[in-house]
Amino acid sequence: MTATFTAALPANFTTAENPIRIGQIGLGGGIAGSHLNEMLANVNFRVVAGCDPNLLDPRAKENANRVETHGGKIYATHQDLLGDPNVEAVVIAAPHVTHKSLTLDAFAAGKHVLCEKPMATHPDDCRAMVEAQQAKGLIGAVQMQHVGRNSMLALRRRLQEGTIGRIREIFLTSLWWRENAYFERVGWAGKKMINRQWNLDGVMMNQGIHYINQMLVIAAPGNLPAVATARNINCALYRFHDTPALEMEDAAFITATLETPDSPRMTALVTTCYRPERHAIDIIGEGGRALWNGTGYLFADGKPLEEFNDDNREFDGSSRVFNSFAAAIRTGVAPITAFDKIARTTEFILGCYAAADWRISPAPWDQVEALPDVHHRTMQGRCLPSELMPRPKWA
Ligand SMILES: NC(=O)c1ccc[n+]([C@@H]2O[C@H](COP(=O)([O-])OP(=O)(O)OC[C@H]3O[C@@H](n4cnc5c(N)ncnc54)[C@H](O)[C@@H]3O)[C@@H](O)[C@H]2O)c1
Repeated sequence: MTATFTAALPANFTTAENPIRIGQIGLGGGIAGSHLNEMLANVNFRVVAGCDPNLLDPRAKENANRVETHGGKIYATHQDLLGDPNVEAVVIAAPHVTHKSLTLDAFAAGKHVLCEKPMATHPDDCRAMVEAQQAKGLIGAVQMQHVGRNSMLALRRRLQEGTIGRIREIFLTSLWWRENAYFERVGWAGKKMINRQWNLDGVMMNQGIHYINQMLVIAAPGNLPAVATARNINCALYRFHDTPALEMEDAAFITATLETPDSPRMTALVTTCYRPERHAIDIIGEGGRALWNGTGYLFADGKPLEEFNDDNREFDGSSRVFNSFAAAIRTGVAPITAFDKIARTTEFILGCYAAADWRISPAPWDQVEALPDVHHRTMQGRCLPSELMPRPKWA
């Protein structure tokens, strides 16, 4: 494999002398406070504005107060925020279906964009965002904090160096836990469409996207055109939760290859039905094995070779993504979660829905325990994911 994993971030980069003057779009959500924490503590940023259409919401109000305390202005609409000449970049912390339109408006106003995941829920929208970004010569990045984790970057570097040889198989297990109340907390959670737009808030587009993206990066790193088409994908979708708020899948089994030379076979299970939560990416190469399980290991001949520790700190990854966004704006180097790279993850997930024929089978909770077991046997080629429940068409 000759491609490169692009994780360029100038060593010791700082723009503390000239911090990015940033505005936050969306102040009231669960993620809004985390972004403010990050930016207020990060010398590379100065929060100069914030907006939310619902400033009466207690959380939005609290975050608006924080922005004002630090000298920032608060607006009721994103149009007003984008009209502020002091704002040079925005971070978007609003629901999925707003990502495309907010991004296009921001680019039209000449602002750089760091957008929450999913970048958008349809490949056409992602393409429009990439085109607008390139036409304007601005920076577009996605807040995918796991991409920036130390262990992931170190492991990717080792894989690129060829430490385990050509990669043959990648097994992703991404087990999350969400209760019914999670899907009942806001109107868009778990829904297929919102305002006649694709919302697709299932486990693949929401939680699983972080690790599906990692799997794709490992399978087709760097600048290879990693567009996965539906004919390479098998996918079975299930719904275990029994709240009407959840219309989408909460468990997905995926097997796929990419239309790239020497693509490894990928096998994935992503679910929000399993606790304790745990995540692992097992990578089998011709000359060894690498396991990412929150930190990351390399094995040779079955024996541990090296461990990469990132203290399990998701938030270090978040800082790195923010810093890489700042570096991209000041130096022009590509951010580690550049729009054109992350867009392929949305394309892949849409391919999964197409491969499953958009069919989500109901599944009873008493089968939850079987999820990792079915996945494990799938990994070993001993069964199909469809063994779990009614057979999908392709099985
Ligand atoms: N990276 C991560 O790990 C992570 C974690 C949580 C959420 N997210 C993502 O963040 C996004 C928001 O999630 P949430 O749970 O915080 O949502 P939420 O619905 O709880 O909050 C969204 C906020 O955005 C505001 N908003 C809506 N439309 C707006 C607009 N046009 N302009 C400005 N503000 C607007 C709402 O009033 C609300 O305050 C989602 O896309 C989600 O996937 C990412």
